Amino acid sequence: MKQATNITWHEAAVTKNDRRSQNGHGSCVLWFTGLSGSGKSTIANALSQNLYRERISEYVLDGDNIRHGLNRNLGFSDEDRSENIRRIGEVAKLFVDSGTIVATAFISPFRKDRDAVRSMFEDGEFIEVHVHCPLAECERRDPKQLYAKARSGEIKDFTGIDSPYEEPDAPEITIRSDQLSVEEAVKEIKQYLIDRRII
Ligand code: ADX
Repeated sequence: MKQATNITWHEAAVTKNDRRSQNGHGSCVLWFTGLSGSGKSTIANALSQNLYRERISEYVLDGDNIRHGLNRNLGFSDEDRSENIRRIGEVAKLFVDSGTIVATAFISPFRKDRDAVRSMFEDGEFIEVHVHCPLAECERRDPKQLYAKARSGEIKDFTGIDSPYEEPDAPEITIRSDQLSVEEAVKEIKQYLIDRRII
């Protein structure tokens, strides 16, 4: 692919801080990472509903949905997963600039890809949320019946089966989704946002 030349950066008339002031709350990305079936989307959506009810500007970017549109040309090779995460990082940055609290729910299995996204943000804006659930429990839940297909060889390169998941070294938040209810998880994440004066 040929890179574009002759492009310049246009400074916006309204800034991120303007929008944060008008909203009356901060903006950040809550980067959910974890195995398929660990509960990332469920918790992210429950959090979003909770924030929405408090009139907080929020949005969820979800792996399965984004792969129907923006990233529909990507598969599950290591390279495609990296590109998937890079693009989501860029989109999340736009949401943070728009003054929104954006929750992203992608397996994002590779540490280097998550760290590359982290480095795009200012201190405190990137909040890594490790949704920690043992593989055996994810496989027991198997909400989309994908683990069964991966075990039978019908799906290749499935995370946790024949493709690796690298756990975060120092996530800002760890949610033990095999031990907490969705409501408890939401409460814990909200408390983090309150403690950091984001909301
Ligand atoms: S990521 O690895 O690139 O971050 P992403 O979160 O976008 O993955 O997509 C994961 C979702 O795609 C899973 O929840 C599952 O529904 C579906 N999926 C289909 N094939 C695979 C696969 N080989 N590995 C993992 N997830 C898969």
